[in-house]
Amino acid sequence: MSATLIDGKAFAATVREKVAAHVARLKSDHGITPGLAVVLVGEDPASQVYVRSKGRQTVEAGMNSYEHKLDAGTSEADLLGLIDRLNNDPDVHGILVQLPLPKHLDEGLVTNAIDPAKDVDGFHISNVGLLGTGQKSMVPCTPLGCLMMLRAHHGDLSGMEAVVIGRSNIVGKPMAQLLLGDSCTVTIAHSRTRDLPGVVRRADIVVAAVGRPQMVQGDWIRPGATVIDVGINRIDAPEKGVNEDGSVRTRLVGDCDFESCAAVAGAITPVPGGVGPMTIACLLANTVTACCRAAG
Ligand code: GUN
Repeated sequence: MSATLIDGKAFAATVREKVAAHVARLKSDHGITPGLAVVLVGEDPASQVYVRSKGRQTVEAGMNSYEHKLDAGTSEADLLGLIDRLNNDPDVHGILVQLPLPKHLDEGLVTNAIDPAKDVDGFHISNVGLLGTGQKSMVPCTPLGCLMMLRAHHGDLSGMEAVVIGRSNIVGKPMAQLLLGDSCTVTIAHSRTRDLPGVVRRADIVVAAVGRPQMVQGDWIRPGATVIDVGINRIDAPEKGVNEDGSVRTRLVGDCDFESCAAVAGAITPVPGGVGPMTIACLLANTVTACCRAAG
C-alpha cells in the first residue's frame, strides 16, 4: 500500500472534543444545553444500533438526548404529532427521524414536517434548496464529514476534479453541491454512466457512495488521487470461519476494493474507521450549530 490512510476515527474524536468544548461554553456562559431528539419507528436492527450510538455520543458531548421509540405500526398522524411537539419544544434544538421508515409512512412527508432550523440531517427540502443555491443551511452529516476530511488533507480544494459515484439525496447530491461550493469541477457518476472507470480515472478526488461492495477497482484510480469511501457493506468472510450457529462469519467492506485502490491512490479512507465515525460527529456538530442559531 502506498496511500496515506485518512483516519476518520481519530478525526471524529477531535470533532467530538471540539463539540464538547463548545457545549461546555454554551452551558457556562449562556445557561443553554443543546438537545437532540432522535425518533426511531420500528425495530430495524441496524437502525437500533445507530440510534443507540447517536444517543450515547450526544450525552458524552454534554448534550441532552431525547429518544423516542415508536412501534412499527405507528400511524403517520401520530408520528407527525410527535414531530410537531418536538418542533415547538424549546429544549429540543435538533430533530432526527431515523430512516428507513416502515413502508406505510411517507418519508418525504415526515422529513419535511421537521422545522428546517432543527433539521440536523439536512434532508428538509428548504435545506436542500439552500445548499443548492450556496446559502447557509443545515448540511447532511455524511457529506459534511467527507468534506471536512478532504479540507483537512488538501487545504484548498479549488480547481480539483472531483467525481462522486452515486446520486442519492442523502450522500451523492449534497456531496456534489459541497464540492462545487469549494470550487471543484464536479461530475456525478452513477449506475448508468458510460465508461465509469474512464470517468473515475479523471478524478483528483473520488467519493464512492454507491452501496456496491468493492466495486471501485484500483485501475480506475488516477495515481495519487484521494479516495473517500462512503460504503458500508457486509459481505461473507469464510476465511474468518463460522459462527456458533454454523453461519458464515461476515466483515465490513466499502464500495472500493481497498487493497487495489490503496496501491494507486495518494490517500484513502478505510472501512471501517473512515467516513462512518465522522457521520455521528457531524450530527453532534450540527446540533450545536442549530442551538447557536436558535439562540441568535
Ligand atoms: N439512516 C441511515 N443513515 C441515516 C442518516 O444519516 N439520517 C437518518 N435520519 N437516517 C439514516
